[in-house]
Amino acid sequence: MNKKAQTTATLNLRGIRLLAISGSLRSGSSNHHILKYLGTQVPTDINYIIYDELALIPPFDPGLDNDTPPDAVVRLRGLLTNADGLIICTPEYAFGVPGQLKNMLDWLVSSSSLVEKPVALITASLGGEHAHASLLLTLGALNSHVVDGAALLISFIRSKINAEGQIIHQETEESLNILMHNFLTLVTNSLQ
Ligand SMILES: Cc1cc2nc3c(=O)[nH]c(=O)nc-3n(C[C@H](O)[C@H](O)[C@H](O)COP(=O)(O)O)c2cc1C
Repeated sequence: MNKKAQTTATLNLRGIRLLAISGSLRSGSSNHHILKYLGTQVPTDINYIIYDELALIPPFDPGLDNDTPPDAVVRLRGLLTNADGLIICTPEYAFGVPGQLKNMLDWLVSSSSLVEKPVALITASLGGEHAHASLLLTLGALNSHVVDGAALLISFIRSKINAEGQIIHQETEESLNILMHNFLTLVTNSLQ
C-alpha cells in the first residue's frame, strides 16, 4: 500500500456514494479509463458508479424542464441527489466543453441536484485548458463545490495512457491519487 492510500485508509468511507461521469462517449476513451482507474483506487466500502447514460440525455429544452422532465434526466438527477460526491472527467472539443456534457449540465441548472455537492474535475485532453476553465465557471453557476486540490488538468493524455487503458505516466498516476485523497477527505468531512 502506498503512502497516499494509507492516509486515505484512515478516513471513515463506509457507505459513501460517488458518481463518476465521463464527458467522452468514445469507445476506448482515455477519460473513461481514468474513471475506471480511480474506481480501482477507492476502498471497496465506497459505492462507486460510472454513469453510462450520457448519450441518452436529450437536447436541453427549457420548455420540457417542467414537473415531468425526460426519464433519463429524472434518473440522472436521482443519481446525483443520492451521490455524496461527483467526479467529472472530460476531454476538450474545439476549445470547449464536449457538447453532450454541457447539455447534461444545462439540465441541472433548474434542479438543486448539484448545489453544495462536492465535485472533482479532471480535464484529460490534448490541451484542455479552455474546457477546464469553462467547466469551473459552469460548476460555479450550479453552486457545486469544486474541491480544492481536486481539479486537475492533464494535457497530452494520449501519451499517458496505453492501448489497454493503463496509465503509463507516473506523475499523472500520482496526481490522480492525490486528487482522490483530497476529494475523499472533503466528501467525508462534508458528511460529518
Ligand atoms: C472533434 C474533436 C475536437 C477536438 N478538439 C480538441 C481541442 O480543442 N482541445 C484539445 O485539447 N483536444 C481536442 N481534441 C482531442 C481530444 O482531446 C482527444 O481526442 C482526447 O483523447 C479525447 O478524449 P477521450 O480519449 O476520452 O475520448 C479533439 C478531438 C476531437 C475528436
